[in-house]
Amino acid sequence: MKQGGSDAAKRAAGEAAAEAVEDGQVVGLGTGSTAAHAIRAVARRVDAGLDVTGVATSFQSRELAREAGVPLADLDEVSVDVAIDGADEVAGGDLVKGGGAAHAREKVVDASADRFLVVADPTKEADRLSHPVPVEVLPAARSTVADAVGELGGDPNLRRAERKDGPVVTDNGNLVLDCDFGAIADPAGLAADLSALPGVLEHGLFVGLADAVYVGSEDGVTVRAP
Ligand code: A5P
Repeated sequence: MKQGGSDAAKRAAGEAAAEAVEDGQVVGLGTGSTAAHAIRAVARRVDAGLDVTGVATSFQSRELAREAGVPLADLDEVSVDVAIDGADEVAGGDLVKGGGAAHAREKVVDASADRFLVVADPTKEADRLSHPVPVEVLPAARSTVADAVGELGGDPNLRRAERKDGPVVTDNGNLVLDCDFGAIADPAGLAADLSALPGVLEHGLFVGLADAVYVGSEDGVTVRAP
């Protein structure tokens, strides 16, 4: 797992991306510790007079936006101008997401946005994706999908909860298989194969969706257009 980037680096990336939001826009609010910095920064701009509407990608981002004071709407009421979201791994414009099990709603919001800005710290960057791919499955499909993932060359592991006995249950009431494929030679092909499995609600491969990648460090932010 690629974790452990500094909070200062995450903050730098999140705050820089929040600066890209313009008055009157609808903003997709991502999930995780890096996106949380962007949400707080958007909230400070709202406090200073910016007129925006947020669309949450998870229970977590909804709670944070509410507490911080970002007005919210549901995705079926608005269309998203810009989404800001973190990633577990970034290779060019391709991502693995879902470390917080929020990738299904994240993908709906991020893919619908006119612009999708990824926020990350340098520990997330890779030449090739190799992070285990989170796959959200209907509970009844857990073993059939695990078998199919094995046939695709992956090693599926049911994600266990940390402060609860048993598995992680997503915001949508489903389970997560973390599927280790080693280095992924063809992310688009694997994404299509996983999407085709009955019982898969969504997987964490985000292929070709990112419009810009903001990589923060303690010295500043680099913005790449994949
Ligand atoms: C949530 O399910 C994920 O997709 C997160 O966006 C991803 O895990 C990045 O989180 P951090 O910014 O906390 O590393």
